[in-house]
Amino acid sequence: EVIEAGGQVLLPGFVDLHTHLREPGREDTETIDTGSAAAALGGYTAVFAMANTDPVADNAVIVEHVWRRGQEVGLVDVHPVGAVTVGLKGEKLAELGTMANSQARVKVFSDDGLCVADPLLMRRALEYSTALDVVIAQHAEEPRLTVGAQAHEGERAARLGYTGWPAAAEESIVARDCLLALHANARLHVCHVSTSGTADVLRWAKDRGTKVSAEVTPHHLLLTDERLATYDPVNKVNPPLRTESDAEKLRAALADGTIDCVATDHAPHAVQDKDTEWTAARPGMLGLQTALSIVAETMVRTGLLDWRGVARVMSERPAEIGNLADQGRPIAVGEPANLALVDPDAEWTVRGAELASIAANTPYEGMRLPGVVTATLLRGRVTARDGKIC
Ligand code: NCD
Ligand code: ZN
Ligand code: ZN
Ligand code: ZN
Repeated sequence: EVIEAGGQVLLPGFVDLHTHLREPGREDTETIDTGSAAAALGGYTAVFAMANTDPVADNAVIVEHVWRRGQEVGLVDVHPVGAVTVGLKGEKLAELGTMANSQARVKVFSDDGLCVADPLLMRRALEYSTALDVVIAQHAEEPRLTVGAQAHEGERAARLGYTGWPAAAEESIVARDCLLALHANARLHVCHVSTSGTADVLRWAKDRGTKVSAEVTPHHLLLTDERLATYDPVNKVNPPLRTESDAEKLRAALADGTIDCVATDHAPHAVQDKDTEWTAARPGMLGLQTALSIVAETMVRTGLLDWRGVARVMSERPAEIGNLADQGRPIAVGEPANLALVDPDAEWTVRGAELASIAANTPYEGMRLPGVVTATLLRGRVTARDGKIC
């Protein structure tokens, strides 16, 4: 088969460190099958499936199930993230070693959906992770500092009568965990950085030699709490959309390497969980099929990153952080390649109903975006081509 690639950009297949695939438990919103399709169409060749499933992925049986199911579907490598604790708000460490040594070879552990608030538990998790050579990915939000509706604590939330989620709730936990990671000589990965102050904390921690990496979501690069004025819960996400100044500084921090990579935090939700009042709605938005376009819009069109830089933040760095030896690299001669082919000049219009996900909660509905993924190859096999699954 010949793929015409004139005028297009060939990139290593994208790696998403942060995807919610909802299987097991919420197959009415996404499955490993439909989520893998969304990933392949978005140019991804590997995704890390978050642990906040039902039951929680806190043991070898569940992570092996997720891993095997990903292999069966075969569109993208699905690497299960193991839960740090038994249960999501657990007070006891899960058996990280058992999951790391299972068939799923778990390399990333997280309690996404709720951070490990207890400092002693976090310290022990980090020390345990050093011994296992795995990474703890922390959902960075001190839950005891966040009250009420998920909205950035500031002028705009106040005007609507929403109590807030202050920037300090994120920044304080990231500072704490960076210090604990340095103490334990552990690798810490900070999930979905959303404030400029967190970028400052990361810069400070990296300068001191902390083995910390961080991700930013496409929506925190583009969207702001200006969206609160729409009252539309499609914009409700955790951490909340912040200010224009935060988004601007996040883009700069991604460009200068303070933030290592882009991760989608793809979070499918059922219509009834979104089409309701703000306070009752679940937080989260779809991301897999729109990530490349939002990065093209916010980082490439603005001149902050060239396509070489896009390869770094969408593929190389996440592959390194997630310990994937077979992803995020230039192709070695004779080796089946993981690739994404992108038409940088083409544009498309986002329609939630047309996305491969079962859920349709995209905040980009009706938006015209640059950057079309024209082909995705997983180990030399075409998985998606011109918007269709192969
Ligand atoms: C995530 C989800 O829906 O699982 N939601 C979100 O807004 N990012 C979990 C989480 O990170 O809180
Ligand atoms: Zn989270
Ligand atoms: Zn998440
Ligand atoms: Zn759909």
